[in-house]
Amino acid sequence: MPNSQFPIPNSQFSIMNKLIGTSINRKDGRAKVTGRATYAAEHQIPGLVHSYLITASIAHGQITNIDTKTAEQATGVIAVFTHDNVPEIHKPTNNFMASKIYESRLPLADNQIYYAGQIIGLVVADTLEQARHAARLVKVEYATQKPVLEAKDATFQQAYSMFGEEIKFEKGNFVAGMRDATAKVEATYTTSTELHAPMEPHAIIAHWQDTDTLTVYEPSQWVLCSQRTYAELFGLSVEKVRIITPFIGGAFGSKAFPWPHGILCAAVARQLQCPLKLVLSRRQMTANTGHRSETEQTVRLGANTNGSLMAIEHTAKSSTSPVDVFAEPCTGITPVMYATPHLRIQQELAVMNIGTPTFMRAPGENPGMWALESAMDELAWELKIDPVELRLKNQTKEHQRKGLPFSAKHFTECLQVGAEQFGWQDRPQQVRSLTRDGKLIGWGMAASTFPSFRGSATVKVRLLADGTAEILTSANDMGTGAYTIVAATAAETLGLSVEQVKVELGDSSLPDGGMAGGSMMTGSLLPAVMKACEEVLKTAKATTAQEALATLHNSGEAAWEATASAAPGAEGKQWAFQSWGAHFCEVAIDEEIGRLQITRWVSVMNIGQVINAKTAASQIRGAVIMGIGHALMEECQFDPNIGYPVVYDLATYHFPTHADIPRIQVTFVGEPDLNFNPLGARGVGEIGITGVSAAVANAIYHATGKRIRDLPITPDKLL
Ligand code: MOS
Repeated sequence: MPNSQFPIPNSQFSIMNKLIGTSINRKDGRAKVTGRATYAAEHQIPGLVHSYLITASIAHGQITNIDTKTAEQATGVIAVFTHDNVPEIHKPTNNFMASKIYESRLPLADNQIYYAGQIIGLVVADTLEQARHAARLVKVEYATQKPVLEAKDATFQQAYSMFGEEIKFEKGNFVAGMRDATAKVEATYTTSTELHAPMEPHAIIAHWQDTDTLTVYEPSQWVLCSQRTYAELFGLSVEKVRIITPFIGGAFGSKAFPWPHGILCAAVARQLQCPLKLVLSRRQMTANTGHRSETEQTVRLGANTNGSLMAIEHTAKSSTSPVDVFAEPCTGITPVMYATPHLRIQQELAVMNIGTPTFMRAPGENPGMWALESAMDELAWELKIDPVELRLKNQTKEHQRKGLPFSAKHFTECLQVGAEQFGWQDRPQQVRSLTRDGKLIGWGMAASTFPSFRGSATVKVRLLADGTAEILTSANDMGTGAYTIVAATAAETLGLSVEQVKVELGDSSLPDGGMAGGSMMTGSLLPAVMKACEEVLKTAKATTAQEALATLHNSGEAAWEATASAAPGAEGKQWAFQSWGAHFCEVAIDEEIGRLQITRWVSVMNIGQVINAKTAASQIRGAVIMGIGHALMEECQFDPNIGYPVVYDLATYHFPTHADIPRIQVTFVGEPDLNFNPLGARGVGEIGITGVSAAVANAIYHATGKRIRDLPITPDKLL
């Protein structure tokens, strides 16, 4: 069980039933386990027809001929679309504020092939089986060019962020700082291509009423942005588009914006004027719905004899596709973690003939912390200093790039509480010094961090005559527990139980609730929930929902309602907001067969106010499990000749199962970060994965004396 939470200060929050910070069961749990939660592909639409993608079997070149005749004549086939007859689609503005597509090339834009598995056509038929069969009858001829599929053949150039800024920064003079250092570490760390592998596959149902009104059922982490994007793609005003996403079966960054398959499905549905469904196969998802790029990072650390960091350099390389730019932002964490007078970061990016990479849970922070936290461990061994001690000693009070102090930073407690819970003080400071049942035992630790973002959000609340309340907002629950924390916050403010609050999410026709991404929904949305609830009570001149309803004289009378928005103010000019944590783990290794088991795990996190202790701990556990996958298993390899992923589904792409995971003990420490928002909640979701792979590799070093710098750490690397 997670430890109990600190209380909310009275001055900031009117405590009535003290729900916030307790463990609350998921409101949507029963619907999910009984199959009543409706996911995108499950919506029942009369007259629905099915489609199946045709994808490229080469990684680079052109289509010279595409013969659809046999496919068109197959049973049940309604139409076949290729670049020769693609319906009209407009290029959207394509920036976060307005609209955004993951891949700036529109689907079927021309006959060019940029990566294997690229969408080159769509078959529409009465049934899925007919569409899939006909897709295989399409004959494609190609002019093939040599693809770039491996980093060693790629040309790396200065990387730019999605916002067009050079990823490059220097504070002080790294070279001079390194010259004065007495203890040095220089090492290169690599990670493999990773897939999001959500339980719910990517899918869409596009339903047009005439040619100017579109309803889209598609998993979307940000329905309002999706609405604006589809409106621009089809030249419509935003009110003519509605995105409906009540449930998302895992997204991890891959379901924030439309991908080419969704755009194509909607375009074809408009032309055919019938509701159209498209579900991607797992294999199609590998090329067409994003991944985390492989990375190569070099970290150089210099310290003086007492362990103070004199210089840090972190450089990173990753790759993108020829049709969009995404540079995995590995070095963003480096100015945040440890104080040093001399700091340098830089990133390079190569274009390769592989599908477009994108955000994947803690994009940048996860691989970045793998490298930095491995290097810190190497430095601790070099200096013969305890790795917890080294981190405590080198903490920074300020964000070294922004030049701002951190608000409510409790990294020290994360390290100290974690060390105590784990029993770290008993760790022998020699490698290969612990054994159990003929296995080598190792203890490792690493730090966690994730920035805290906040956006604006709007919420509508209605008090109904039956004594219940309704909260309405476009925000999404992608499996993280948003339904539950929205209900809990409303219940707390209105004096109701969680069961008495009904929450409607994931519909673009509701007030703008912001995006479920960057771990920012909790911190952005809940202040608006609280404000709307306070507003409705004020309107009713009441202090609780019950009092408000007592003033309604008969059940036919209109219920009370209010809409309120909350947005960040100028606090970001004064403070840097960041969450902190530490992971401690034990590994047991049978060196003869390269078998590794993780036998113990302790995570201590500082995320400001915890809203729901149960789902917050679940977020950390899920992230640790995903991090263990990153450390030990996850690796999407591509055929070096044809560029096709040779690992592509839930059987061939390995990630942890229950048998691979120990009990994960999660504790939250700190205080509400009231500089951040009125609840003091910085959110949770991504931080838990950061540092996990380094903690595992550091434990492996302690067990075996072998430093592994290449992920995933598969059994062959342990032999
Ligand atoms: Mo996340 S990778 O911001 O969904």
